Amino acid sequence: EPTAAFVSGLPKAELHVHLEGTLEPDLKLALATRNGVDIGQSTVEEVRASYAFDSLASFLAVYYPAMNVLITEQDFYDLATAYFRRASADGVRHVEAFFDPQAHTTRGVPFETVITGLHRAAADAAGYGLSAELILCFLRDASAESAHETLLAALPYRDLIVGVGLDSDERGNPPAKFAEVFRLAREAGLRLTMHCDIDQVGSIENIRQVLGEVRVDRIDHGTNILEDPALVALVRERRIGLTCCPVSNSFVTSDMKAREIVELLGLGVLVTLNSDDPAYFGAYVADTYTAFARQAGIGRDELVQLARNSFEASWLSDADRQGYL
Ligand code: ADE
Ligand code: ZN
Repeated sequence: EPTAAFVSGLPKAELHVHLEGTLEPDLKLALATRNGVDIGQSTVEEVRASYAFDSLASFLAVYYPAMNVLITEQDFYDLATAYFRRASADGVRHVEAFFDPQAHTTRGVPFETVITGLHRAAADAAGYGLSAELILCFLRDASAESAHETLLAALPYRDLIVGVGLDSDERGNPPAKFAEVFRLAREAGLRLTMHCDIDQVGSIENIRQVLGEVRVDRIDHGTNILEDPALVALVRERRIGLTCCPVSNSFVTSDMKAREIVELLGLGVLVTLNSDDPAYFGAYVADTYTAFARQAGIGRDELVQLARNSFEASWLSDADRQGYL
């Protein structure tokens, strides 16, 4: 079994982490105090006791209300910096991190406050050896109009984001709902990715849409693609990365999907390992690699391949990517 030192020493990229999902209980409480926000809990133990998830919906019901403590630019800076430093300690060299602007703008926090704080943290990360990029995620359970307004609010900050994504509750919110907004984002030069969650009935149809109509550059989760060998062949040929999150999977489906991830790896698909919402699911990237190796029964060679995949699937420039391959 690969040791912790081996896993941390392996250079890795993290491509699927929600910055709001890195809000640790102690920072949540500190921000609540700083901003005078009552979150109904006053100790780390009380906060942790509220983390009992068995589905995406039960997770999201805890995740969104917690964001009320994030108000000022400094709050967003502190949130992202804590995560970037933690990731760096795990041997992560490059991050492409999601943020959910609509979860803040709908509470009255300006887009500018969010992006300015997060970008300042991303820029400062270079000082401790980490390159960091931001991916703007639209909430799929909000309207396409709201996503469009959010894209327009982001365009003045176009250079501060590398791409757009789609997250939150997938039921009844297929990729096609956002095809036009994603087309506009592509026109603005942004990369595209969308969540195709593993616990969704009919998710193979959503995977078909993201590869066909939307033409994404990556898929977040997406292990259900094994249901359609033609789609597996397509992502392999197009070198489309799948950003898998085994520990997160184990919370929302009681299954890491380790067998599926190993099968995709064996088929030559660009699968990667990521933490998703580490403060809630209890594992940052290094622990995710270790837990996955144990569950999947794999060794160093496969972890090395998964780490290489993380750079190949990244949106680094060709020159920067080459330095890691
Ligand atoms: N937002 C944060 N984490 C998410 C996940 N795992 N799936 C969908 N939306 C999310
Ligand atoms: Zn996610």
